[in-house]
Amino acid sequence: MGELRGTHVPVLLERCLELLAPALGRGDRTVHVDATLGLGGHAEAVLEAHPQTILIGLDRDTEALAHARVRLARFADRIHLEHAVYDELPDVLDRLGYPGVDGVLFDLGVSSLQLDAPDRGFAYAQDAPLDMRMDQTRGVTAEEVVNTYGHPELARVLRVYGEEKFAGRIASAIIRERERARITSSARLAELIRDAIPAPARRTGGHPAKRTFQALRIEVNRELAALETALPAALDALNVGGRMVVLSYHSLEDRLTKAALADRVRSTGPIDLPVELPGTGPTFRLLSRGAELPGELEVAANPRAASVRLRAAERIDPDAQQQERADRERSRRRVKAMNQPGTGSVRSVGDRRRAPGDGTGTDVEGEGT
Ligand SMILES: C[S@@+](CC[C@H](N)C(=O)[O-])C[C@H]1O[C@@H](n2cnc3c(N)ncnc32)[C@H](O)[C@@H]1O
Repeated sequence: MGELRGTHVPVLLERCLELLAPALGRGDRTVHVDATLGLGGHAEAVLEAHPQTILIGLDRDTEALAHARVRLARFADRIHLEHAVYDELPDVLDRLGYPGVDGVLFDLGVSSLQLDAPDRGFAYAQDAPLDMRMDQTRGVTAEEVVNTYGHPELARVLRVYGEEKFAGRIASAIIRERERARITSSARLAELIRDAIPAPARRTGGHPAKRTFQALRIEVNRELAALETALPAALDALNVGGRMVVLSYHSLEDRLTKAALADRVRSTGPIDLPVELPGTGPTFRLLSRGAELPGELEVAANPRAASVRLRAAERIDPDAQQQERADRERSRRRVKAMNQPGTGSVRSVGDRRRAPGDGTGTDVEGEGT
């Protein structure tokens, strides 16, 4: 097998490394999960930057795993490469004996290896059998989907997963064609789609088959169902101080990511209480403000980055946060009391020190209590 280094530029690599560094660089034998190993580009950079870190790399594509194994061979004593769908992460961690991890990266979607392979059927620009399975050892192919789904189901897949305005027309064209002859090739499907879309609409929004191919790929690989289960499982697996970074490439993935993080960064306690009840505080803090977009230079150097959205979060200890908040409140009250007429002097700015870990300043505790 030829080594594929250089054919795939890892997306937002520097930003991913920067976000993961505080979690992976904080001790010996930290554990990082690359849930979408692909060709191992991000994984290789993590292993180089953190010489003590153990990598658990998952991919459902055996061909991607084989390439990554070659690329990462020099780190063989601290990597576990697993053929698994990422929603199987809890089982993988159990089997390998890692109760918690420090970093998780999801770089969603297909790899350049899959897109460029002449025989996998992911690309509308190349003629190939309609397969589109990331894991070619199991599951239904795109050929089965386009030749067996009824009109309503086919139209729903194209509308929901492809956000395709002409879903109904394309579904009708597919059904008409398959009554004549089974649809077996990506080129024939791309042609049918182009003919089903009104001519003025073909001139905007990229290749007319792009959205349908994306929709079929998501359906064939059950991508969103797997992601919806995998994100909470990965968040659960993180140790306190551990960090997760997710790179999404379309709005459906990004929406699921946003929702999974939103669940963890808000309090579940009653909103009218001034203090958090034990066990109801946020368990994560966001590291990204909304979804981060790539810079112009990144997109120019790596067109695959054009549609990326990055979100990241860190696991926090809710009890420690609660304690910090209580300490800050106590200090605030003390300073306020000292400033009342007839009490001691006002504390100077020079008396401030940093609160452990949060990088902000807080008042010194201990006097006058
Ligand atoms: C964009 S590529 C990752 C590229 C990688 N970050 C790199 O730098 O080489 C995405 C990879 O995730 C894999 N993948 C997609 N969905 C998956 C899932 N549900 N479970 C496991 N692997 C998945 C694909 O097979 C593909 O190899």
